[in-house]
Amino acid sequence: MLTESIPYQGRISLLQPALFFAVFAVFLIVPTASAQQTNPLASNSRAALAGGVIFRAQCATCHGADAKGISSIDAPDLTMMWTQPGMTENRVFTRIQEGIPGSIMPAHDFPDTEIWMLVSYLRSVAVSGSTGEFTGDSENGARLFTTHCIECHRLGNSGGSLGPNLQRITQRRSQAALRSSVREPSSSIGRGYKPIILSTANAPNVSGIIKGEDAFSIQILDSSQRLRGFAKSELLSSDRDIDSLMPAFLEGQLSESQLDDILSFLNQQR
Ligand code: HEC
Ligand code: HEC
Repeated sequence: MLTESIPYQGRISLLQPALFFAVFAVFLIVPTASAQQTNPLASNSRAALAGGVIFRAQCATCHGADAKGISSIDAPDLTMMWTQPGMTENRVFTRIQEGIPGSIMPAHDFPDTEIWMLVSYLRSVAVSGSTGEFTGDSENGARLFTTHCIECHRLGNSGGSLGPNLQRITQRRSQAALRSSVREPSSSIGRGYKPIILSTANAPNVSGIIKGEDAFSIQILDSSQRLRGFAKSELLSSDRDIDSLMPAFLEGQLSESQLDDILSFLNQQR
């Protein structure tokens, strides 16, 4: 997906002049102030539209045209970042402007107004927590959670750590996203939970989650939740293009109404 042909500079030349006029002209009269605490374009309904145009030209090669990230290059899903603790528009502005040192996320020498347009766009595609009612039976959900989920997921003071902590998960994910995580875990694998299968002479076919890595070594949490380190020089093979370590729960194993029950239970853990 990462093609060489999309330059990170010269962005305006990528846009059709007519489109440029239609979308951006309205902003030419907005004075470009320096970075400030709040988005000066917050009340401008066209800012998100203009930001989307810039995003698709400048950011989509890494983050995807829909901002949902591209896992093969580990560029994060930006629709979900807003629910991180302490995430503000100002912080997003700074990350776009300064980039993220030590990663491939580049700095962007754009006028502030254009960065705020990007912030407006990212706000417009933000996925917030679950809305709507939870109609399941949460007591049954608690039982099902203990049977099927707790070995890998922490909740309160108990549970495993192969998967993410699910405390307050309904504040961070929509119901649709949660359902898809259970039915098709591999469709979007969160950062910090990338799976790998590797082999060494002494340890064939070890699967786990990558927890740390540098040029010479890799640390994984294996599927029995043991933290293990390997020197890259001892690896006979490694494969990262594999399914999530979370099994897909199809309707045969977990009916829709049982899934409703689990979600109602999770929604109580706020
Ligand atoms: C060359 C690939 C690449 C391009 C181009 C790129 N990004 Fe990123 N971006 C990344 C990666 C990788 C990260 C994660 C860095 C890290 O945390 O290690 C990231 C992180 C971010 C973050 C922080 C997300 C968070 O959860 O904290 C924001 C915001 C962001 N990018 C916005 C943008 C925008 C807007 C553009 C276009 C103007 C853009 N990026 C262009 C690769 C890219
Ligand atoms: C064998 C371990 C394992 C079991 C059992 C398991 N999970 Fe997972 N789960 C994971 C891993 C690993 C991830 C992270 C990778 C991914 O997203 O696929 C994950 C991710 C998730 C996510 C996404 C969280 C986020 O931050 O978006 C949800 C929701 C989830 N699991 C719910 C469940 C539920 C509900 C059950 C029981 C029905 C369950 N899991 C059973 C390992 C497991």
